[in-house]
Amino acid sequence: MSWLLYGAYGFTGRLLAEEAVRRGHRPILAGRDGERLRALAQEMDCPHRVFPLDDPFRLQVGLRQVRAVLHAAGPFVETSAPMLDACLSVGAHYLDITGEVPVFEAAFDQDARARDEGVIVMPGVGLDVVPTDGAAALLHRALPTARRLELALHSPGRPSTGTLETVVEGVPGGLLVRRKGHLQGARPGDSGFRREVDFGPEETDGPMAGRLGGRRSVIPATWGDLATAWRTTGIPDITCYLTAPRRQVQFLPLALPVLRGALKVGPLRRLIRRRLAQGTSGPDAATRAQGRTRVWGRAEDDEGQAAEIVLELPEGYRFTAVAGVRALEGVLELAGGGRRSPAPAGVLTPAGALGPEWVLGLPEVTVVGESRTASEERH
Ligand SMILES: NC(=O)c1ccc[n+]([C@@H]2O[C@H](COP(=O)([O-])OP(=O)(O)OC[C@H]3O[C@@H](n4cnc5c(N)ncnc54)[C@H](OP(=O)(O)O)[C@@H]3O)[C@@H](O)[C@H]2O)c1
Repeated sequence: MSWLLYGAYGFTGRLLAEEAVRRGHRPILAGRDGERLRALAQEMDCPHRVFPLDDPFRLQVGLRQVRAVLHAAGPFVETSAPMLDACLSVGAHYLDITGEVPVFEAAFDQDARARDEGVIVMPGVGLDVVPTDGAAALLHRALPTARRLELALHSPGRPSTGTLETVVEGVPGGLLVRRKGHLQGARPGDSGFRREVDFGPEETDGPMAGRLGGRRSVIPATWGDLATAWRTTGIPDITCYLTAPRRQVQFLPLALPVLRGALKVGPLRRLIRRRLAQGTSGPDAATRAQGRTRVWGRAEDDEGQAAEIVLELPEGYRFTAVAGVRALEGVLELAGGGRRSPAPAGVLTPAGALGPEWVLGLPEVTVVGESRTASEERH
């Protein structure tokens, strides 16, 4: 039995396909456009299957004899539910590269069914949430009494068209944080949001000089970790951030409600997505090869103790390709009972299932900053 990559001819799907082949896999490449799929399958020397997501019968037939699916077709608010349902129906393990909180929450709602079917469901095996979930797990291990967790991502460079379309779909959902274990709405201007984050040693040489590390302004973000870090660590208060130019940090409290209101209008959202789809797809090979990303995390408890960590990793799309394929390998190993017996099932997070250290074993992932503050050092 093989595994299947759906959305294989998308920007990130193609990177995942290349990485899979590089690692010796021969996945079934799948999607809804036969012409694009055939060309890719020929180039990669992989089998292919053409089927859409909106026909449950064809979807299930498309998954025959498939052990696991790595789903790369997004926005996942539109594509995850039918694929997850089909996977649970045919008993195939499911992974995706979503970063969308409603998609994670809908997946976690399927936990009992996944356990009953003996299926592993692992959403978010890309840039969001693999490194941040790992950072959350490492921080929780360093400070098991933590009650508050903050995570921030600094990923310089251009997003893909698919990512931008996904952001457009996500904005109407508004800004979320997790408090006392529950997701709740927030406003970017609310007090308590951090304005700056120290992303560790500043890069002074090479293509990333001045673009990596150091103190940077951040904006709060509805990032998938609001769903996953809660399951991985049980820390009840979680806030996520992205870096942004200082100007955006100042204007976001005013701009976000306006943008949110505008993007609630379906026809306008569709128009913007059509325009985005006409653009070039994502960062080029040189940018992907040279780029790097930093992840910062901080955990605090009620006694004033704190732990911080900064991770460095490859450029986001390159990292997603590597992490996605390695997560799939990890899930297949788990499912085969290779790591634990009996084999686990249910909706699992990357660090929860594969361990806090797993992210540190991925290529070019390093800890570039780590600190622990005892309560008497509090200021
Ligand atoms: N979590 C992360 O860190 C991370 C990293 C990278 C990407 N992503 C996410 O991954 C998704 C894909 O990104 P991308 O850069 O690869 O975008 P892309 O180049 O636009 O590719 C999107 C792919 O999804 C397919 N697709 C979209 N809607 C579909 C539907 N209803 N049924 C069947 N196929 C459908 C497209 O096929 P057609 O051309 O036939 O429509 C295409 O193959 C986005 O949601 C993005 O946010 C997440």
